[in-house]
Amino acid sequence: MEISYTPSIALQSHQSLIIATIVTLLPLLLAVRSLFKRPHKSNVSTPATSSGKEETRQATPSSSCNASSDSAAFPNGGKAGPAEEDMVTADVSKVVAEMQSGASMMELLVPEITTHALSYLDYPSLCRLSMTNSMMRKAANDDNAWKALYHKDFTFEQDSVAPVNGWKAYYAATRAIINVNTEFFNIIRDRSLPAMSCFWLNADYVKCIHASGAHYSGYNSVIRSWQVAFNWEQEVDFQVRDVRARVLTDMAWVTMKTFVDMDSGPFNMTNVFEFHHGRWYLVHHHSSVMLRAEVDMEQQIVHE
Ligand SMILES: *[C@@H]1O[C@H](CO)[C@@H](O)[C@H](O)[C@H]1NC(C)=O
Ligand SMILES: *[C@@H]1O[C@H](CO)[C@@H](O)[C@H](O)[C@H]1NC(C)=O
Repeated sequence: MEISYTPSIALQSHQSLIIATIVTLLPLLLAVRSLFKRPHKSNVSTPATSSGKEETRQATPSSSCNASSDSAAFPNGGKAGPAEEDMVTADVSKVVAEMQSGASMMELLVPEITTHALSYLDYPSLCRLSMTNSMMRKAANDDNAWKALYHKDFTFEQDSVAPVNGWKAYYAATRAIINVNTEFFNIIRDRSLPAMSCFWLNADYVKCIHASGAHYSGYNSVIRSWQVAFNWEQEVDFQVRDVRARVLTDMAWVTMKTFVDMDSGPFNMTNVFEFHHGRWYLVHHHSSVMLRAEVDMEQQIVHE
């Protein structure tokens, strides 16, 4: 949902104040409405557990809201510069400053309802909401809302992990590494050797095990193997499913299934990344071996 403010809303009259308030709170009101419509998910945080934490959680800096551009990545999430946020906030803050003098409709809601309603918002909405005022910022930074969003957008796995910097940062870090991982497949589709060369960490310990079963060790050897693959292999279309990421401070690993042909079963793949000089680099790629008799024979000949 897009929230836009125009300078023409001068906020001089009481009436325009109310309109601005309604526009700002629309996403939340819709969420509250859906709260009573949608079936209750068992993993969604309950108001009882979230209300207590709301007070104690520190508000972390809001991470990038540009869903398609945050692959620039940050190891702990939430530490990325709030440049985009500032641009939006500049517009919003004028309106908010005026609004805070009047009574906010949000303040009329029970805090438990607020927190629970936030767990139904999507990523951009939660980001936008956190920019409206300090109270909404606090509510939108609630860890349980971000944990619920993580479960909704990524996986119900990792339910028991306790991210050191909270679920908001973990959500951002996960989103970043999944975008980086998607780039890996874009590079293969484009068959771009320069892009693949930048994608890998230039180190002697990086390793790559292709679907052919061939094993390469060291940066130069790995990049040469991709050069050969891009030169020889036919253009293939594939679908990537079941992407699961685990992100630690400066290391992340991603598992996935890649279907070249839906009938032949997936290649099971693992990518391991390290964080250096402000971005993620691939240090290990492992694909399960293609289960075709001819390929197996070819490999035996090569390796014997
Ligand atoms: C946001 O993403 C778009 C692509 O959808 C990109 O063109 C734009 O530069 C990004 N903005 C920032 C501030 O990174
Ligand atoms: C990948 O794993 C699935 C089980 O999840 C298995 O059925 C399939 O054969 C595996 N693919 C390869 C190429 O080993």
